[in-house]
Amino acid sequence: MGPRRGRQGKGRAWGYPTDLHPKPRGPRRPRWAGLEGRGRGPSMPSQPGPRLLSLADRVPAGRPMADIGTDHGLLPVWLLVRGRVPSAIGVDLRAAPLRAAARTAAAWGLAGDPRLSLRQGDGLAPLEVGEVDTVVIAGMGGRRIAALLEAAPRRRSALRRLVLQPNTEARALRAALQDLGWHLVDEDLCVEGGREFLTLVAEPGVGAPLTDAELLLGPVLLQRQAPAFRSWLVREHARLQAAAAAARAGTGRVPQPLAAALEIVAATLGVDAPSS
Ligand SMILES: C[S@@+](CC[C@H](N)C(=O)[O-])C[C@H]1O[C@@H](n2cnc3c(N)ncnc32)[C@H](O)[C@@H]1O
Repeated sequence: MGPRRGRQGKGRAWGYPTDLHPKPRGPRRPRWAGLEGRGRGPSMPSQPGPRLLSLADRVPAGRPMADIGTDHGLLPVWLLVRGRVPSAIGVDLRAAPLRAAARTAAAWGLAGDPRLSLRQGDGLAPLEVGEVDTVVIAGMGGRRIAALLEAAPRRRSALRRLVLQPNTEARALRAALQDLGWHLVDEDLCVEGGREFLTLVAEPGVGAPLTDAELLLGPVLLQRQAPAFRSWLVREHARLQAAAAAARAGTGRVPQPLAAALEIVAATLGVDAPSS
């Protein structure tokens, strides 16, 4: 039997339970959550939220960046307003988000500023080869992010850093990065508005092959064992145990991918996994 694909929340295929990923734990917030400032709608933060900070803090200072799937353009505008990057490109597939990004830029005095470029297009295609050092892709599924990177070999090979915030399928994205010859240098699990967000940072170069546990849970997160990661793992363990119990009650057996994930999580927590 193949891995079971559950759906948690409208429009979200989490790849649960064999592709562990932080799940929503609370109500949805607007896309600009954590960025509320003056006036109405998206605006600059006096104190950026943890999700934005997790991305922004991992964009190298002093180097040009692009935000693929920029939506309201909050990240590139904030990075420019704060003087962190010399130039920023916001890319989106659709025109409406780019109009919103232009409004965000105007609200913060960046209308017509040559340091900010807003471009409509698919993935990395609107970028010139070598135009930026850093690409951020946040708020898409892990497989979709991987597909955008795979589709742009020349542009990708000129990059020095990827800052990625997949909202599903982290395991698939880690595997794809490894296949593309990138290695993870940082991972962050942050909580905002009752939801957990995972940030992956990759740089070019082949690293040591990731183990099953590292693909599933993240090599850096595993190494650091931060409190937020441990808390998430405890909840995942309980959820996997419940899924295994339900499978056992229904079919008399636990599907192998679920049993393997449960074993990895249990071993990481130092508790026993129930026998399947
Ligand atoms: C959920 S929003 C995320 C916005 C922002 N990156 C964030 O994390 O808050 C996803 C955005 O990606 C854009 N998008 C989806 N597929 C894309 C693609 N292939 N190329 C560029 N943008 C894309 C959508 O139009 C949408 O504005």
